[in-house]
Amino acid sequence: MTDPSTPPAPSAFGSHHEQVVFCHDEATGLKAIIAIYSTALGPALGGTRFYPYASEAAALTDVLNLSQGMAYKNALAGLDLGGGKAVIIGDPRTLKTEALLRAYGRFVQSLNGRYFTACDVGTFSPDMDLIARECEFVTGRTVEHGGAGDSSVLTAFGVYQGMRASAQHLWGDTSLAGRRIGVAGVGKVGRHLVGHLVDEGADVVITDPYEPAVAALAATYPSITAVADTDALIREPLDVYAPCALGGALNDDSVEVLTAQVVCGAANNQLAHDGIEKRLQERGITYAPDYCVNAGGVIQVADELEGFDFDRAKMRATSIYDTTLGVLEHAQAEGISPSLAADRMAEKRMRDVGRLRQVYLP
Ligand SMILES: NC(=O)c1ccc[n+]([C@@H]2O[C@H](COP(=O)([O-])OP(=O)(O)OC[C@H]3O[C@@H](n4cnc5c(N)ncnc54)[C@H](O)[C@@H]3O)[C@@H](O)[C@H]2O)c1
Repeated sequence: MTDPSTPPAPSAFGSHHEQVVFCHDEATGLKAIIAIYSTALGPALGGTRFYPYASEAAALTDVLNLSQGMAYKNALAGLDLGGGKAVIIGDPRTLKTEALLRAYGRFVQSLNGRYFTACDVGTFSPDMDLIARECEFVTGRTVEHGGAGDSSVLTAFGVYQGMRASAQHLWGDTSLAGRRIGVAGVGKVGRHLVGHLVDEGADVVITDPYEPAVAALAATYPSITAVADTDALIREPLDVYAPCALGGALNDDSVEVLTAQVVCGAANNQLAHDGIEKRLQERGITYAPDYCVNAGGVIQVADELEGFDFDRAKMRATSIYDTTLGVLEHAQAEGISPSLAADRMAEKRMRDVGRLRQVYLP
């Protein structure tokens, strides 16, 4: 008998996803789930996360959420791409082999272009090169194989554009010169972001538990200061707070002590729960939605589909300025939160552009 206190197992039925595929290759230990949320705007693009999930249910929940997020991110970024994502269940340090990745590639190929994969947590460009030996529908490849390389370069550039738009919206001026900006997490994205901010004359404060990352950045940019941890950073007098580490940076505790008037950073899923945005609004803090400002990376890998051209991809990532400004203005005009405004704009594009396929073309 089922224990009534046990939460129901997640199911793809009842969600709004188009297609969810379980892939199994016993010999290599491959257990993967590919989820396609929407192909209204084109083939679904999203990375493959290789992670030791505690259960299949946890993996399914994650891939359903992540693929939906990609559909919204790609739609708002103006890409002709739908949203999908994949997870491989297991510890990449022990399970990842050439054979497993190539087996996975054959399953991606079997979707015949409905899903394009890319890197995510636990997968890297050389892995994409292996997958691509069995499959045509792969981005995020190494530069030697025509890929875009490290996507954090344009992710950081896009966050910088989002920050300029937020400054324009709030202070009537795009300039960040003289603004005090706190960056939490100076990994791949955060360190590039710090470069843009210092170049513009901002007063940058950083924190990262990984001491070598802090030391390297301080050596490159002697003007920046470092504080002990994120808790100390958000209590510093700041104009802008840029979460560039893990999700959930904006929670019931942090939102109460935040001094910054703008939050704009690269981290995915910054809001710990939906109620946080209301509290940010009450405190008069402008929140630039995470998936709006961190789309530079997907813009970068999507460019590979046309044969990668960095300048063209950078030009496209510049549009994050206009998109962010549009989201903030729409939110203000409608009296809604920026996240809701972003969601509505993404949904409208999926609906309006997606329905054009109804017009038959021979
Ligand atoms: N890399 C991309 O192109 C990309 C694209 C979109 C979104 N993102 C998101 O941006 C964020 C950063 O990505 P990344 O590629 O730079 O990751 P990364 O792993 O290279 O860097 C994250 C950094 O955060 C630090 N960190 C961990 N816990 C911290 C804490 N409590 N306080 C402060 N710093 C902490 C780590 O030491 C590390 O240096 C992630 O949330 C990621 O999902 C990245």
